[in-house]
Order: sequence, then structure tokens, then C-alpha cells
Amino acid sequence: MNNSITPSTYVRCLGYGMMRQLADFTDPQEGWKKLAADIKNPSGTNRYNQLHIRRFEALKQAGKSPTCELLYDWGTLNCTVSDLVDLLIRNQFLAPASLLLPDSVRVTDNSTMTLPSQESMPKYDLETPLEKNHMTSEVPLSTPDNGHHTVASCSLTTEENDLHLNDTGLKSFLFHELQSVTNNFDDRTVSAGGNKLGEGGFGVVYKGYINGRTVAVKKLSAVADVSLQDLKQQFEQEIKIMAKCQHENLVELIGFSSDLDQPCLVYDYMPNGSLLDRLACLDGTAPISWRTRCNVAQGAANGICYLHENNHIHRDVKSANILLTEELVPKLSDFGLARASVRFTRTIITDRIVGTAAYMAPEALRGEIGPKSDIFSFGVVLLEIITGLKPMDENRDPQLLLSIKEEIEDEEMTIEDYIDEKMSNWNLISVEQMYSVACQCLNEKKSRRPDIKMVKQHLQEILVD
Ligand SMILES: Nc1ncnc2c1ncn2[C@@H]1O[C@H](COP(=O)(O)OP(=O)(O)OP(=O)(O)O)[C@@H](O)[C@H]1O
Ligand SMILES: [Mg+2]
Repeated sequence: MNNSITPSTYVRCLGYGMMRQLADFTDPQEGWKKLAADIKNPSGTNRYNQLHIRRFEALKQAGKSPTCELLYDWGTLNCTVSDLVDLLIRNQFLAPASLLLPDSVRVTDNSTMTLPSQESMPKYDLETPLEKNHMTSEVPLSTPDNGHHTVASCSLTTEENDLHLNDTGLKSFLFHELQSVTNNFDDRTVSAGGNKLGEGGFGVVYKGYINGRTVAVKKLSAVADVSLQDLKQQFEQEIKIMAKCQHENLVELIGFSSDLDQPCLVYDYMPNGSLLDRLACLDGTAPISWRTRCNVAQGAANGICYLHENNHIHRDVKSANILLTEELVPKLSDFGLARASVRFTRTIITDRIVGTAAYMAPEALRGEIGPKSDIFSFGVVLLEIITGLKPMDENRDPQLLLSIKEEIEDEEMTIEDYIDEKMSNWNLISVEQMYSVACQCLNEKKSRRPDIKMVKQHLQEILVD
């Protein structure tokens, strides 16, 4: 009997002891998975997909209780004990339900327990601010008084504003200069006449013009569980790494600004955007041919090889971070940015981490990052190149692209069934060669994955015609 708990108690207010007691019932035999599959968002959609389940599984392997983690996350929606009890009863977990609310479960004549009369729907208290439901939140920005420069009025000079970064050889801009060259960080998309190129986990990217050169300005924003100080640290990390790393398959970092609280990075502009968008033929772009896809795979592998040979791990290898020049030469971006952000707290069930989890090696999900975790992620990119499919799609079976490997191993499907229909001029032998490289990269055991040199070699051996 627990008198302090009432039906209206928030799940997030349950004590750790009670959580553990509940977990004793639902952690074994994957009971928590049944619960997760039955939890809905306030809008009625399923809250947890395969990818979330994968994250919870990784936490289990790391010694945490998946039930507790699930309840912590669901609790951020301000669900109540009444919602939880209904969920437990619906899924035949009567003992933990009666632990929470002893009267919720009654014993009938034939000694079976039955549901309470009222049927339940999610009914969360949305008046109360959600704590961790959305991870991205803008850092308050102190806009300079003179924030109305026109492009023409701004002649950019290298400022000596962050002396400790000046030895990088990069251009150091003032925030307001970058504001000016991006039309005041115009948030409308480029196709709608604005400057916004895209948005990722670390901030928004804008198109700008500096002294006749087109650039991409990434304005970094803080995320809910990363302090401004951590963000600046990440920023300086990337600056230092990128300044040293120069290769034809890495996006050039031109400069940065760090005079105000919102740091910016200035990159070379990549006219063909990301491989992710081009595989999806976003904005009506033409599908990429098989030959070009093979070149893109090789170029991206060259970029990773350069990083690994210089003892850097990218940590965020994915098709959105493979950008394409006018001639579709691939260049890796954002190496270094993920370094300080690999944190596995209770806020793991967020769009950013989930998005990236579609590429993450099993050991990387547990927080163990090494060159071989880049290799695993690259394996997913190779599958994207062959299939043209997104790494994760909630409306697809299987939701995770990397699961097609198991389907093919189980002989339910062949790689031929998955070849991108939009693609021209492919031949099965070369597709199978690339698929074989992808499978090696996707080995669950990191020691069995090839290193990047091997990957490069295998990709070079692919006979396109
Ligand atoms: N240098 C660039 N040139 C042209 N477009 C760019 C450039 N950098 C980024 N973009 C565009 O902006 C989009 C968002 O990039 P961003 O790096 O912020 O997010 P992401 O790659 O999806 O995720 P992550 O934050 O994990 O890197 C990219 O998908 C790309 O379309
Ligand atoms: Mg990126």
C-alpha cells in the first residue's frame, strides 16, 4: 500500500524506489517493450519506434533499467499514475498496477483480475511546460545595435577577436558581419527567397556572400542539456580540428565568429547540398547515376581515411554530412562537432540522438566511440547509396535501413529487390560488390569490421561497367 501515490500523481514524480519495484515486473522478458509499443503521444501517434527501442536496449546492456528509462522519458509528457496504471492493466501487468493503486485491480469470482471500468486514452496535462520533450532551444541572442547592414555595406576584414583561436589560420569574423552577409540570418528557405539552407542538431545553416564568394554560415544554437560553455568548447574543438584537416574530400572551413554568445562557422558553400537530399531527389533534382554513386562512396571513404590516418574520428558519419560540389564531388562536413555532444543522459529519446542512432554501431550506442564506429555508420551510408532509402522511416517495414541486411541474410529478400528504382546504368555485380562492403562495415562485432583502408580498397575494386 502506498498512500502517497494517487491517480493524479505525475509519473515523473514517482520515487526511484517505486520505479525499481515496477521495473522488477516489467524489465524481465522484455515486458517494457510491450508497454513502450502501447504508449501514445498526446496526438495519438505511437511515441516510440524501433529506433527508440534500440536505444532502450542499449541502455539495458549498459546496466540500466529500460522500464525506468522509459518511465522517465514518458514522464516528461506529464502523464499520471492513472495513465500508467491503465497502461499496465491493458498489457496484463496487474501486479505492478496494484502496487501503484491497490484499488485499480479487483479480483473476480473466478480469481482472475479485471480492468477497471473506464477505458483510457492519453490525457496529459499540456498546460504544464514540458521539460525535455524538445531538445533544441535557442540561446538568448544579444543582437548588436547595428544589425541592419546590407550586403554591399559590409566589407569583411579579419578581426583579431578571439586571440586564442588565431593560430588556426582561419578568418575571424564578427557576428554582426555574418549577420549582414546572410541578410540578417533570413530564416526563409533559399527557394522562398531567404537564406536558410538547412538545419541540424547543432544549429541552422545559412547561405551568404563574402567578397564575391558564396559561403555557408552555421549559426550554432545550444541544446537543452548542453550548456553554453560546452557548446563553445565543442565549437573551439571543431575549429582546431578543422583548421588542421585539409583534404579534397573534406568541406573547407573558411572562418568563424566567436565574439558573441552564439558562435558561427563559415564553410565553403556546396552547391549540390547533401547526399541525403540528392538521393531523395529533393527539390526535383535528377537521380544520381550508379557510376556517380560509386565515385561518391569512394570519395567519402577517402575523406574518412584522411581523418582516421590523422587520428580523428568523425563521430557523425551520415549522408546529411556528405556534401556535394557542383561536379558531385563528395566532401565530409561536421567532423569534430559531435565530439563533445555524445552524452547519454535521460534525454536520449530526442530527435537529434534518435536521428543519428540510425547510423550508430552497437558499441557506439553504449557510448564507446572509435574509428570502427565510423566504419559502421559508413556501412549505413553505402546502403543508402544502393537503395536510395532513408536510414530510418517510421512508415516502412523495416523502419531501420540497416535491418535489410538481416532480411537478406534470412533470404526473405535479395539486394536486387532493394536497388534504387530511380537509378540508371547499374549492374548487379557491382551493386553486389558494394553491398558486400556495406555488410562487412555493418558487422555487429567491431573487430570484424574492415578498417577504412580496406574499405577504400574494396570500393576501388568495384567494376562499374
Ligand atoms: N557547406 C554547406 N554548403 C551547402 N549546404 C550546406 C552546407 N552545410 C550544410 N548545408 C545544408 O544544411 C543542412 C543542415 O546541415 P547541418 O549540418 O546543420 O545538419 P545535419 O547535417 O542534418 O545534422 P548534423 O547537425 O548532425 O550535422 C545540410 O543537410 C545541407 O543541406
Ligand atoms: Mg551536418
